[in-house]
Amino acid sequence: MLTSTLHEPSSVYATRTVSASAPREFPGLRQIVREVETAWGLRETTEVVRALNARMPALIERYRPQLPGWANGVDTHAASYRRIELHHCPLHGFQILAMVWGPGQGTPVHDHRDQWGIESVWQGELDVVDFAVKGSAGDLVRLEPSNVSRLSTGRSLGFTPEQGLHLCRNPSHRNATISLHIYARALDAFNQYVDIGDGWYERREYVPSQQHSQ
Ligand SMILES: [Fe+2]
Repeated sequence: MLTSTLHEPSSVYATRTVSASAPREFPGLRQIVREVETAWGLRETTEVVRALNARMPALIERYRPQLPGWANGVDTHAASYRRIELHHCPLHGFQILAMVWGPGQGTPVHDHRDQWGIESVWQGELDVVDFAVKGSAGDLVRLEPSNVSRLSTGRSLGFTPEQGLHLCRNPSHRNATISLHIYARALDAFNQYVDIGDGWYERREYVPSQQHSQ
């Protein structure tokens, strides 16, 4: 199953980003922003990630009942998963995104440019597959899957700058997934790793397309 996902054509991974110029209120967004600002004061990255990750299940439980009203305005049958920017902090620079994953949709292996993140599931399930670097030669990197986390609704996963090499996918063949992602900096460019066989991947910079309307 993992292998078939990795070999899907790259067009599957084209994403659409809806920028903050088309504001979208996500359930509990203001409270979530306050929580990130509070955790930011802990300064030490591991503590920030631990504190936010610990808070997410309660935030999801509290605000998830409002999610259907938001989800009604989102196309869950789009050709690719969608990234919807909800907030970009002008002071600290952190970014909050909603992502909408149709059945079976996912990302290639990617990194997070050495920043921390929190990925939380508000509807459906999300698989997060971690990879470990086993070798490199220029832009070629040998990778091995090291861990698979299946996040069900209400769960979240935090990663430190050292841990953010992974792929995400919606494991369901029928249902959409909605997830909320918090990143220390705006993830407007990052590296994708294209499977070239025998465990080797080619690192390529990727810039998600920006569209300024719904
Ligand atoms: Fe990611």
